[in-house]
Amino acid sequence: MNKAQWFDELAWGLSERGWVSFDVTTWLGPELLRSLQSELIALDQRDALKSAGVGRGSAPVRDRSVRRDKIAWLQGASPPQVALFGFFERLRLELNQRLFLGLKRFEAHYATYHCGDFYKAHVDSFQGRASRIVSLVLYLNDDWQPLDGGALQIFNRESENEVCGLVLPEMGRVALFMSEEIRHEVLEAHRTRYSLACWFRQDVIPLPLSAVI
Ligand code: OGA
Ligand code: MN
Repeated sequence: MNKAQWFDELAWGLSERGWVSFDVTTWLGPELLRSLQSELIALDQRDALKSAGVGRGSAPVRDRSVRRDKIAWLQGASPPQVALFGFFERLRLELNQRLFLGLKRFEAHYATYHCGDFYKAHVDSFQGRASRIVSLVLYLNDDWQPLDGGALQIFNRESENEVCGLVLPEMGRVALFMSEEIRHEVLEAHRTRYSLACWFRQDVIPLPLSAVI
């Protein structure tokens, strides 16, 4: 499959089903994935990730009954982040060409879920805000087993209580979905779970970070 066909498949999955999961190792290369994983592990060891908030406004609520992950925003400055942002930018343009989404920019953060952490069922964006349009999660864990928990559970776009997909957070695996339409949930992790989330947005002006979900 050439790259154009690969992007065709992603766009088709997004429009027909609202989500798609694929492996990005051959595109990004195992070394880049390893470097991103190392950055994240180093941040986690320095305790540099912060509890994530829920909801919008100037004071997102840190509600541990809803989500327990810790996050750190990417600035796109280190060599692995520059390479990753190059890929995100290409994906933004390819999706715009195929789906006319008018995606203007993206934002990304690292996330860790420690043992016992989860993120209850939610959507990433509320309809009509033209903010987060497409969500992407890239997983950075070696040898993830089903018994390790922490799967991303995806609900059907048409019937929101019906589970239609389960993505294991395995190194190089990506989940890509429509932010407003697809409910999803991170099941409780039984070991530390490393990932990176990115949102492609239709708005131009970045909000202050404190005001972003
Ligand atoms: C999120 C989210 C899913 C995952 O950060 O909003 O739903 O699999 N993440 O980490
Ligand atoms: Mn989410």
